[in-house]
Amino acid sequence: MTAHIIDGKAFSAKVQQMVTDHVTAMTADHGITPGLAVVLVGEDPASEVYVRSKGKRTVEAGMNSYEHRLDATTSQAELLALIDHLNADQSVHGILVQLPLPDHIDSALVINAIDPAKDVDGFHISNVGLLGTGQKSMVPCTPLGCLMMLRDHHGSLSGLNAVVVGRSNIVGKPMAQLLLGDSCTVTIAHSRSKDLAAICRSADILVAAVGRPEMITGDFVKEGATVIDVGINRIATPEGKTRLVGDCHYDSCAAKAGAITPVPGGVGPMTIACLLANTLTACARSHGLPEPEGLTA
Ligand code: GUN
Repeated sequence: MTAHIIDGKAFSAKVQQMVTDHVTAMTADHGITPGLAVVLVGEDPASEVYVRSKGKRTVEAGMNSYEHRLDATTSQAELLALIDHLNADQSVHGILVQLPLPDHIDSALVINAIDPAKDVDGFHISNVGLLGTGQKSMVPCTPLGCLMMLRDHHGSLSGLNAVVVGRSNIVGKPMAQLLLGDSCTVTIAHSRSKDLAAICRSADILVAAVGRPEMITGDFVKEGATVIDVGINRIATPEGKTRLVGDCHYDSCAAKAGAITPVPGGVGPMTIACLLANTLTACARSHGLPEPEGLTA
């Protein structure tokens, strides 16, 4: 079988355009412009790249971007004071605290200090509970992006067997909740699962979010299944360079799958597009406006 390649780059551009159109209309009709505040503590180079990219895409979508760059020695109390300030600021509809935070700061405490209505990462304990009980919440960006791609490819997901490999709070667990919400039969597996390959072979939808380069190979994939690869791993090549690979061994999985997301260019670009979508959703909700269609769970 030749797998259909799910083009996350093209799809994320479509999502970003939908967000931009909504923002344009919101600003024109209501004089409201969504605002996203991103907080970065310290100088982690990878985080710097993400934050710059988030700011750029936010502005491209017509929204206001507020960047708060704090010194690595910033105290927890100072960070909490900034969160309080952003919670109260009416021009800020979304707050994202870039992780990881320095060791002297309690990340859970900081995340749970964010107003849940502005928690565009969907990491606040209230949003986790709301999602887990099938109520309206802010949904973590990466699993939301995966859900959008799956809905776009399949239409209805109802009744399909979904296997999520990985049990993180950021991807695995919320992904499983979202698939359950779309009436899939969901299995959460992980690196310690007994006979992982057999579990994966039961999947119509296989989501790999285990954080191990190329761990999922073609013999884990049922003929015709849809494979969503969340992994982004940098590995060394024999030539002494590096390259990005997913959690799936692409060639062997693509030989079996009906559809597959590549790495790079699959799930990755969807994450920031969904961050913009969540900021728009948070803004619409805060003003009692209708939620943007096709951009929420
Ligand atoms: N660091 C790496 N990915 C993310 C993310 O999605 N959200 C936050 N807040 N920090 C991150």
